[in-house]
Amino acid sequence: MMKGIFITFEGIDGCGKSTQCEMLKNHLESNGKDFLFVREPGGTVIGERIREILLDKKNSQMTARTELLLFEAARAQITDEVIKPALEEGKIVLCDRFFDSSSAYQGMARGMGMDFVGSLNMAATGGLKPDITFFFDITAEEALARRGKRGEASDRIELAGLKFQEDVRKGYLELAKSSDGRIVTIDATNSIDEIFAQILKTLEGKI
Ligand code: ADP
Ligand code: TYD
Repeated sequence: MMKGIFITFEGIDGCGKSTQCEMLKNHLESNGKDFLFVREPGGTVIGERIREILLDKKNSQMTARTELLLFEAARAQITDEVIKPALEEGKIVLCDRFFDSSSAYQGMARGMGMDFVGSLNMAATGGLKPDITFFFDITAEEALARRGKRGEASDRIELAGLKFQEDVRKGYLELAKSSDGRIVTIDATNSIDEIFAQILKTLEGKI
């Protein structure tokens, strides 16, 4: 039985989720809460090495199956090494991306199949699921414009283009429809402060 609470943040690239993670981290810190923040892929020594392989633009020959299994491998490691122990200690765990990213990016956008990826997700996490997932919904065009403003070079996945991001969004919308309330959809075009207020309201009494 896990004593902590597991909260994940999802959406297409540039949707604004890292901004909100940062705000929630600051909020928890100033309220003296015991929390852990991690991001996927990465968050462990092994996972960060897998992340480099996954995001390296030089790896253009990577097949969709290899990509999927590398994301799942990084996830298996962070789940066992970091997330489960923290939850068992009663911590609040915030994760910037978790298995819904694989369902949306690899399952939907890469065409590997949402059900197929769903079963690999369960294998990688040993059945651990987030308690609450915030999905930041925005069009691919708007997210691209935001990424332009951020001014960073695109990684291998971001280079897949606008149509790919649109398909990722479709994947998330499908997941949100069938999530039994776990996934909370946020209109990511609202202001940063409005979105943060919505997140705090959702988490009221839970954190
Ligand atoms: P992600 O982590 O989802 O890729 P970021 O949080 O880094 O996205 O946000 C991408 C860019 O959009 C950043 O420059 C950020 O300041 C800006 N941004 C984030 N949230 C909003 C918002 N609600 N409205 C307008 N701009 C935003
Ligand atoms: P990252 O720089 O962490 O992106 P962001 O700041 O948008 O979260 O890069 C992670 C990239 O990997 C991002 O494009 C989403 C993608 N991804 C997948 O395709 N599948 C996955 O399972 C995960 C966790 C991420």
